[in-house]
Amino acid sequence: MICSTKTSGEGPVLLFVHGFPLSAEMWRAQLDGLDDLRRCVAIDLRGHGASVDPSPEGYSIDLFADDVADTVASLGVEQVDLCALSMGGYVAFAFWRRHRAMVRSLILCDTKAEPDTDEAKAKRLEAAETARTRGVAAIWEQVGPAMFGAHPDPSTVKTADEIALGVPDEVAAQVALAMRDRPDSRPDLATIDVPVAWIHGADDKLMPVDQARISAGAIGSGTFTVIDDAGHLAPMEQPDAVNAAIRLHLERVG
Ligand code: MLT
Repeated sequence: MICSTKTSGEGPVLLFVHGFPLSAEMWRAQLDGLDDLRRCVAIDLRGHGASVDPSPEGYSIDLFADDVADTVASLGVEQVDLCALSMGGYVAFAFWRRHRAMVRSLILCDTKAEPDTDEAKAKRLEAAETARTRGVAAIWEQVGPAMFGAHPDPSTVKTADEIALGVPDEVAAQVALAMRDRPDSRPDLATIDVPVAWIHGADDKLMPVDQARISAGAIGSGTFTVIDDAGHLAPMEQPDAVNAAIRLHLERVG
């Protein structure tokens, strides 16, 4: 499937993949702040944002990675710098496994390589049931408060709320199960031989920064940037600091 995208700027493509339950719109500050360096393209994964899916079924992280590859091909380019957050990072690891020739460099934000624990897998099933019976709002009620650091800008929180509440209930259910079933990406870390920047909110409550530092360290070479005063959605909460880290990385990539 070729996904719907939001685009700004010109030049080599910098492709953004969103987290859950979000959409391309979470990257607004990156689309507006990095368009002098790259053709910035933020994807709506299937079922999210403008990538409407009338009958969501059979979702998997591999399917999303293949959709990203189809979308890259549709842009008429061979390679992209791939910037992905959280669930988007799971997609980025799958994309690396399945389509690595398309990757010029990787920017991994607030994500993790570890699979779900058994306890987390059980919670995914509950989350899927919650999405189906009580709607995505009930999911967001649980996870939304953990998305930011201690003092997020209220307008940023409102934007995240609006994006999340726009995700269809069955899409949220499908994605919960897709995340549950994702493989362990730790064995792939040492195979990554393109430039990598790992960017992580200091106050990420969902994916602790110290655990992320260990995964980043398993990648041959790369940078690790901690974003102060930011939680899980660091690119939305501290866009200037995140954009500065992405800019440094892209200057290194050339
Ligand atoms: C996300 O932000 O994409 C999710 O928190 C990822 C997850 O639930 O594992």
